Amino acid sequence: MKLGIVGSGMIVGEFLSFIHEIKDIQLIHISGTQRSEEKLKQIVEQYGFERYSTNYEQLLNDQHVDTIYIALPNHLHFEFAKRALQHHKHVIIEKPMTSTYQEALFLQKIAMENHLFLWEAITNQYLPHYQYIKDHLHEIGNIKIVQCHFCQYSSRYQKFLEGDILPVFDYTKSGGALMDINIYNIHFVVGLFGEPQDIHYYPCIEHHIDTSGVLVLQYPHFQCVCIGAKDCQSPSFNTIQGEKGYFYVDTPSSFIKTVEWVNHDGTSIRTDHQHQHVMYAEMQAFVDMYQNQDYQRCYEMLKHSLTVCKVQTIARRKAGILFPADQVSSL
Ligand SMILES: NC(=O)c1ccc[n+]([C@@H]2O[C@H](COP(=O)([O-])OP(=O)(O)OC[C@H]3O[C@@H](n4cnc5c(N)ncnc54)[C@H](OP(=O)(O)O)[C@@H]3O)[C@@H](O)[C@H]2O)c1
Repeated sequence: MKLGIVGSGMIVGEFLSFIHEIKDIQLIHISGTQRSEEKLKQIVEQYGFERYSTNYEQLLNDQHVDTIYIALPNHLHFEFAKRALQHHKHVIIEKPMTSTYQEALFLQKIAMENHLFLWEAITNQYLPHYQYIKDHLHEIGNIKIVQCHFCQYSSRYQKFLEGDILPVFDYTKSGGALMDINIYNIHFVVGLFGEPQDIHYYPCIEHHIDTSGVLVLQYPHFQCVCIGAKDCQSPSFNTIQGEKGYFYVDTPSSFIKTVEWVNHDGTSIRTDHQHQHVMYAEMQAFVDMYQNQDYQRCYEMLKHSLTVCKVQTIARRKAGILFPADQVSSL
């Protein structure tokens, strides 16, 4: 995979910290804003990229790049991905995939019509312990209650209270607790149970944005609660409770480091601690699909991402959360 990256923020730092462990990724080109030029230069030197640019056009037209990783604030995902696909590049988009379901549908159409890969960089769908839950889900009997609890006080929240509104708390940039943190819970649930029958979001709103909130997903025979907060904190966990037993994950739904499977007959199993960087599994999976030309798997995962986009869009709209108006009206 001949990779170009757009963005040089926090998540790119995480990505670069382990990506050398994955074979068959060549770091070719990193692109960003003029104001980040010094940082881009330093990244090129430190990680061995061939070049950088401060103009996205140059990355789009770089014939040595075949895949673009979009690591930008949420509201830019759609436009940057659309242009990359139109330049016949495969695309990896950071989560959440797009601001709206309509945008995600649009990207899916271009990708499939042009036989291009389009992946959402979402950790939990590729983690081995998540697959373990999937494989054994049928063994805990009929599901009755599902809870996902991911609450992490944001270092950017204090700034937000002081009036310095960073993208993650800015509705014009598709920020908010649901988009930033509860989205992992939605992926966790939708990946196991598919699209819910009904969706209700009860947010705490400050300055037009949900700084925390409770999402209720209704399935035909059970209820599911997803709690996400950036304005307060407590230990995060996930439980899936069935008639015969339950799964308990004592980490946020983005990590899933261990899983405890407890049955009513007194037996229990605890999986080993996961040691690799949390983004390793997803990136390895993308490279494998790319190497094997496995478009079928990519499009299956894309279908899952689209369902998540649908859920987040309905939840936010029903709760009256604002969307970046220009993006909504431009479709
Ligand atoms: N941080 C995390 O732990 C984390 C985890 C998982 C997923 N993500 C996702 O990753 C994405 C980025 O998050 P982040 O935390 O890395 O954000 P960040 O630290 O704010 O970085 C955003 C990057 O985008 C660049 N940028 C902004 N506007 C641009 C434009 N018009 N053209 C080119 N570059 C532009 C910024 O450059 P300037 O600094 O020059 O503006 C910066 O390098 C988000 O979608 C987020 O949901 C983040």
